[in-house]
Amino acid sequence: MRVFHLSAECYPVAKVGGLADVVGALPKYQNMLGLQAAVVMPYYDRKFVHENEFEVVFKASSLLGIRRFYFEILKESTDKLGFELYLVRIPGLLDRENVYGYPDETEQFIAFQIAFLDWINWSQQSPDLIHCHDHHSGLVPFLLYHSKLYTRLANIPTIFTIHNGQYHGAFGWDKLSYLPEIDLTQTGLLDWNGGINPLAAAVKCCWRYTTVSPSYLEELTINSNGLEYLFYIERAKGFGIINGIDTQIWNPKTDSMIAEKYSLKQLTAGKQKNKEALCSRFGLSSDKPLVSFIGRLVVEKGADLLAEAIKKSILLHPDGINFFILGAGDIPVQEELLELKEKYPKQCNVYIGYDEALAHLVYAGSDFLLMPSRVEPCGLNQLYALRYGTIPVVRATGGLKDTVIDFGEEGGYGIRFIQPNVNDMVHALDRAAKLYETTPHLQLLRKRMMALDFSWDRSALEYINLYESLKPAI
Ligand code: ADP
Ligand code: GLC
Repeated sequence: MRVFHLSAECYPVAKVGGLADVVGALPKYQNMLGLQAAVVMPYYDRKFVHENEFEVVFKASSLLGIRRFYFEILKESTDKLGFELYLVRIPGLLDRENVYGYPDETEQFIAFQIAFLDWINWSQQSPDLIHCHDHHSGLVPFLLYHSKLYTRLANIPTIFTIHNGQYHGAFGWDKLSYLPEIDLTQTGLLDWNGGINPLAAAVKCCWRYTTVSPSYLEELTINSNGLEYLFYIERAKGFGIINGIDTQIWNPKTDSMIAEKYSLKQLTAGKQKNKEALCSRFGLSSDKPLVSFIGRLVVEKGADLLAEAIKKSILLHPDGINFFILGAGDIPVQEELLELKEKYPKQCNVYIGYDEALAHLVYAGSDFLLMPSRVEPCGLNQLYALRYGTIPVVRATGGLKDTVIDFGEEGGYGIRFIQPNVNDMVHALDRAAKLYETTPHLQLLRKRMMALDFSWDRSALEYINLYESLKPAI
């Protein structure tokens, strides 16, 4: 079966967050299981495209409203990522450095989807199934089934995966003319709350939608930034499939981005070496428990609670707990954290920015990884932490709830708290500090975590089973 994954991000081509990790790994694991999975994404002016060979496999022009745009489809020549990679290059729209954040983002992603559909329509590239990820490719199911231009493709099943239900990519009806000729009796499928909503349209039109954890499937009916009722009525075609991790990249035994490689056998010594490297680089002390946070500094991740909770924890354990933050995002949150660093330089350090290699060192060198998320569709950080023997301290929501069992429960290994507020966090951090004192217990939990299997093998198969269930139609 030939499947195209459509996504705005894919590691290592362009990564902003976990979407890239998933789209960079899932197709590879699916191919190992006998599928023919490929990735189609926008072209970005980034290191990966400069350092690799591409061939142009298709060239054409199309229309975005009255604006004609030229596009080409570039294929990475070696398939070195474990899957075929196709980039949609549109001069003036999809040839820039950043993935998100441009004022004409709506135009960029509509043009991306039109170029993709035109390409598979005009060339001999028709896949057996199209797997769209997040709202950036959310209009594809609608256009496939309700545009005259693509009737040849209208039997292709579509799966839509929701990595983040908070962002919908919505825009006004004044931009309807950007879409190619569509069946105007079906425009209700595009609509939500008086606007064109690509996420809602995808959920309505796709054959099946999935969320990146089972708990998140239920949570969308309670909290999805206005789409709760939609998720309630469409619940029957939703499936929750937990993400995996790419164990070829995230492996402390082979990871060249960390200071000292280690396996379960050299766990204690290996982690300590990494902790020393991290602490000496950031002026922290390697004989204190080290709690880290990695991620986007946004409200969704509970980042606005970090400064206050860290301050209270430091006051509660004046000589006993260190913190390290790696992330970028909301300016007030960044400022609060930098002030904290000024005030408590021996106990807290902050690196504002994005640094892939540093993230690996932080997973390896920390004792605890804090994730106070308000919303967490899956979360990959806690899975990386588990793999590196770092105890996750998480708010029990979405994928965090599905993957982290509190150490107070049978077979547990992490620390969970229920409410996304400062007091609950401080209490959880207090449990972490106490756990750190009981070395044998800590070692037992670390060993338990490292023996867990969150690799993609199982989840990649679950997606394939879902594809196969649509097979009579394929
Ligand atoms: P989300 O996609 O919502 O941001 P995930 O937990 O799914 O959250 O994935 C986040 C991914 O991005 C992980 O691979 C994490 O290591 C990485 N990451 C986030 N922020 C940074 C950063 N500042 N530097 C390096 N890696 C980061
Ligand atoms: C999103 C979610 C995150 C998830 C990731 C990959 O960015 O916020 O929880 O892990 O997608 O599915």
